[in-house]
Amino acid sequence: MRDKPVVAIALLAIVVAVAVGYAVGRKSAPASSAVSEPVAAAQKPTAPASATEARPASNQIDAIRRGVPIAEEASPPVMAHVENTDIKRVRAYPMQPPTIPHSIDNYQIDKNSNRCLLCHARANADRFQAPPVSVTHYMDRDEQILATISPRRYFCTQCHVTQTDAKPLVANNFKDIDTVMSEQPVQKAN
Ligand code: HEC
Ligand code: HEC
Repeated sequence: MRDKPVVAIALLAIVVAVAVGYAVGRKSAPASSAVSEPVAAAQKPTAPASATEARPASNQIDAIRRGVPIAEEASPPVMAHVENTDIKRVRAYPMQPPTIPHSIDNYQIDKNSNRCLLCHARANADRFQAPPVSVTHYMDRDEQILATISPRRYFCTQCHVTQTDAKPLVANNFKDIDTVMSEQPVQKAN
C-alpha cells in the first residue's frame, strides 16, 4: 500500500508519454506528407517525354495541348517576356485595340483605382505624355459620350495586352487591309 503513489505516478507518466507521443506523431505526419507531395509533383513533368511520340498529324490543330494526350500532364512552355520598348506595333485592322508598348507590372485596376487612367485619362495626358484613350472609351452602349470613362472600357486589360516575344501557336496568313488594297489593281489588270 505504501507504493500506491509510486504506481499512480508511473501510470500518470505513461499516460502523459502516450499523449505526447500521439500529439508529436500527429504534428509530424502532415509535415512528412507535405515533403512527399512536392516530390510526387516534381516527378510529374517527366511524363510528357513520352508525349513527343504522340505529336498530332500536321493537318491537326492542337495548339493548346501541343499533342500531349489528354490524360497526361503537359509541361508548360517557357513564359514569354514582356517587351518594354515604348515602340508601337502596327495594328492589324482599324478597330484593333493597340498592344501596350510598356510593361504593366503591378498596375492595379479594380473598383477603387485604375492605374492606367493615371496616365491615359484625357485630363492627365499632358503630364505623362501618354496617348489619351480615344472617345470610344467614353461612349456607353447607346453611343452617348459620357464625361468619365465608360464602365464598358474600365478594365483595360480586357482588350489591351502587353507586347511579348511569344511565338505564334499556329500559322496565320491574315493580310491587313493595306496589303489587300495594294493587291487589288494587280488582280483587276489580269
Ligand atoms: C506611367 C504612365 C502610364 C501608365 C500607368 C500606363 N501607361 Fe500606357 N502608355 C504610357 C505612355 C507614355 C505611352 C506611349 C508609348 C510609350 O512611351 O511607352 C503608352 C502607350 C500605351 C498604349 C499604346 C497606344 C497606341 O496608340 O499604340 C496602350 C494601348 C497603353 N499604353 C495601355 C495602357 C494600359 C492598359 C495601362 C494599364 C494597365 C497603361 N497603359 C498604363 C504611359 C502609361
Ligand atoms: C472593350 C475593349 C477595350 C477596353 C476595355 C479598353 N480599350 Fe482601349 N482601345 C480599344 C480599341 C478597340 C481601340 C482602338 C479603336 C478606338 O480607339 O476605339 C483602343 C484604343 C486605345 C488607345 C489608343 C487611342 C488612340 O487614339 O490611338 C489607348 C491609349 C487605349 N485604348 C487605352 C486604354 C485604357 C487605358 C483602357 C482602360 C481604361 C482601355 N483602353 C480600355 C478597346 C478597348
